[in-house]
Amino acid sequence: MTEVIARGLEGVNVTATKLCRIDGQKGELIYAGYNIFDLAEHSTFEETAFLLWNLRLPTRDELEQLKADLRRERPLSDLNARVQREIVGKIRPMRALEISVIIAGALDPKSSDLSQEQLKKTAALLTARMPTVLAQYHRLRQGLDPVPPRDDLGHAANFLWMLKGEEPNELEARVFDVAMILHAEHEMNASTFSALVTASTLSDMYSAIASAIGTLKGPLHGGANEAVYRTLEAIGTEENIPRYVDDLLARGERVMGIGHRVYKTTDPRAIILEQLGHKLAATSPDRKYFDLSLKLRDYLAKKLEGKPLYPNVDFFSASVYKMLGIPSDLYTPIFAMSRIAGWTAHLLEQYADNRLVRPNALYEGADPRPYVPLEQR
Ligand code: ACO
Repeated sequence: MTEVIARGLEGVNVTATKLCRIDGQKGELIYAGYNIFDLAEHSTFEETAFLLWNLRLPTRDELEQLKADLRRERPLSDLNARVQREIVGKIRPMRALEISVIIAGALDPKSSDLSQEQLKKTAALLTARMPTVLAQYHRLRQGLDPVPPRDDLGHAANFLWMLKGEEPNELEARVFDVAMILHAEHEMNASTFSALVTASTLSDMYSAIASAIGTLKGPLHGGANEAVYRTLEAIGTEENIPRYVDDLLARGERVMGIGHRVYKTTDPRAIILEQLGHKLAATSPDRKYFDLSLKLRDYLAKKLEGKPLYPNVDFFSASVYKMLGIPSDLYTPIFAMSRIAGWTAHLLEQYADNRLVRPNALYEGADPRPYVPLEQR
């Protein structure tokens, strides 16, 4: 047995994948051969999901078929809709999402069918359902009726419609669509690994996705986008940036949305989100946090000079979502509803070539010792 501990599994390849390649030095992100900048410019979330599930771009007919499949799966089950009404306001939306995945699994008589064909149907079902869960949850907690999905709207636009009951303009719909593409996949991160560990026991896709959602929730991973929002709230105005950052770093704390295990330069997703932010800000009445993010980024660049700490995907997603009128506690669930494409794609790979994940731990505990009965302790 090896004596080396790979803390945080840093630098360890746990599997092979055809889905995603990251060059953290160059700041390059590739989905199945396609550069993220090209996908952000030309693709849609639906097309990117097809790409991840099939390792190639769809034909027009295949894309239309997938869109139709997603539209069909948008409405919630009666059970999920009833549970939503029970839990709304009592639990946070990320937990509501987790519960909805478990309910969908419980209601699926084919949940234990691990054939690739059935798994792709489950992937589409979960992808279609998550936006409805979050939008309905948000409507209900405001005391409003849920807004039913609209068949004439694409995946991203339909979410904004269901959330706000207003049709997004073309720019808003496109920005949100691209933000979903940017969050759709990211190689072997903590939540994807969590999903694979669950799947490696041949547990079903729903349980694997519930594991991933629970893992994404933490502030060192997907929870960072909401934490960025709280940072911007705490800073408030540009004049407060130096004091806030200096105090935080002096306390040995971390600036949320900065740093990455893999990227040692600016995360390409942050570059694209900043570009999108500028487009939105040109007409947004709510650009204050975006402007503050730009100033914060500039201050941090000076303050952290020489350290490999740059904006990650969460840094600008907070202010972009804010300009789209999305409440901050939905930022991390929206990350999940985008990453569902990548999680399920990795699960397709895992189930197709499974090996139980069962690492070791180096024992550092007590030497063997006699058991002492309770009355003698
Ligand atoms: N602010 C200030 N200092 C930081 C930050 C930060 N955000 N991130 C890392 N550092 C410092 C550490 O304190 C450490 O300094 P030291 O060597 O003097 O002790 C050094 O950089 C290396 O940090 P590690 O913890 O070894 O780096 P790791 O690879 O484990 O961390 C992580 C990556 C968790 C993302 C980290 O950068 C972080 O906590 N960032 C803030 C949270 C965040 O934005 N998470 C989202 C990541 S993207 C995503 O998951 C979608």
